[in-house]
Amino acid sequence: MSAEQKKIIFSGIQPTGVITIGNYIGAIKNWTKLQDDYNCLFCAVDMHSITVRQDPALLRKRARDLLTMYIAAGLDPEKNIMYYQSHVSGHAELAWILNCFTYMGELNRMTQFKEKSAKHGSNINAGLFTYPVLMAADILLYQTDLVPVGHDQKQHLELAREIATRFNNVYGDVFTVPEPYIAKVGAKIMSLQEPTKKMSKSDENPNGYISLMDEPNVIIKKIKRAVTDSDREVTYSESKPGVKNLIDIYSCVTSESIESSIDRFVGKGYGELKQVVGEAIVEELKPVQERFKDLQKNKDYIDSIIKKNGETANYLATKTLRKAQKKVGFPVRIR
Ligand code: TRP
Repeated sequence: MSAEQKKIIFSGIQPTGVITIGNYIGAIKNWTKLQDDYNCLFCAVDMHSITVRQDPALLRKRARDLLTMYIAAGLDPEKNIMYYQSHVSGHAELAWILNCFTYMGELNRMTQFKEKSAKHGSNINAGLFTYPVLMAADILLYQTDLVPVGHDQKQHLELAREIATRFNNVYGDVFTVPEPYIAKVGAKIMSLQEPTKKMSKSDENPNGYISLMDEPNVIIKKIKRAVTDSDREVTYSESKPGVKNLIDIYSCVTSESIESSIDRFVGKGYGELKQVVGEAIVEELKPVQERFKDLQKNKDYIDSIIKKNGETANYLATKTLRKAQKKVGFPVRIR
C-alpha cells in the first residue's frame, strides 16, 4: 500500500511518572504492530501534563525519555512521526478554535475531569477542564482516522468526534471524524497492589507498577509481592483479579495466547506463577532496556529525530490549521 492510501493513526502518552509495563503492553507494544500498515503519529503530550503541577526539569527529561522509549520499544522513527506536542504550536491554536465549539455542559460531564478535580482540589485550573478539547485538537489536526485508546479515554474520543461533526456541519468537511482503534490483543494491566485499579505511572507506591527501567531483581521482587488472595491454587477468573492480572501480563509479554497461558498455570501454586511471570517480564524488557540505554547515550541521533519529526508534524498540522482558521473567518496570511 502506498503512503497516501494508508489510514492515519494518532496516539499520545503524557510524559508524567515513569513509563510502566502497562503503557508498554497497553500501548507502545501494540503500536509497533501498526507501523507498517498505517501512517502513525505518536506524541509525547507534554502540554496535557501541565494541567497538573510538574517539576520543569523532570517533565523535560521524561518527555525525552518517552520518545527515546518509543524508539527502544521498536517504533521506527523513519516510519512513524514521534514528536513533542509543545513543539507544534498548531495544537494550541486549533484547541482555541475548538474551545469555541465545545459546550461547558459537555466538559462538565467528563469523568476524568471529575476524578482529577477531586484529586487535585487545590488546583482545579481551566486547563484541566478543557483538557479534552486539546486532545480533540491533537487528533483532528492530522485528519486522523483511528485512535488507539484505552477504556479511560473513550469518553474523550467520543467528544472529539462530536466536536469534529459539529464543526463540519457548519463549515463543510474540514475534519476527518476519528474512530477508536480497538487492539486485537492486549489486556488492561492492573496495579500489582490493588488489582482492581489500572496500573498507573503516577502511583505513589512503586510496588504497584513495573517501570520499563526496573532492574531484573526489582521486577522479580515486585511480582513476588503482587497482591493475590488467600487461595493457593491458580484459577483464572474475575473474582481473582490479582492472579488474573499476572496471567494477563504473562500472555502479553510472551505473546502466548491467553488460553494456553491459563493452561500453563491452572492448578499450580502462586509461588511458581510469580516466578515464571517475573522471569518472562525480565526477558521481554531486557533488549528494550539495552536499546534505551544505548539511545540515551546517542544524544545527536535523538536530537535529529526530534527535530525532523517535529518539522514533519508541524507541516501536516499547519495544513489543517490554516483550513480551520480560514473557515472561521481569520484573515488569510499574505505570503
Ligand atoms: N489523554 C490521553 C491519556 O491520558 C493522552 C492523549 C492526549 C491522547 N492526546 C491524545 C491519546 C490524543 C490519544 C490521542 O491517556
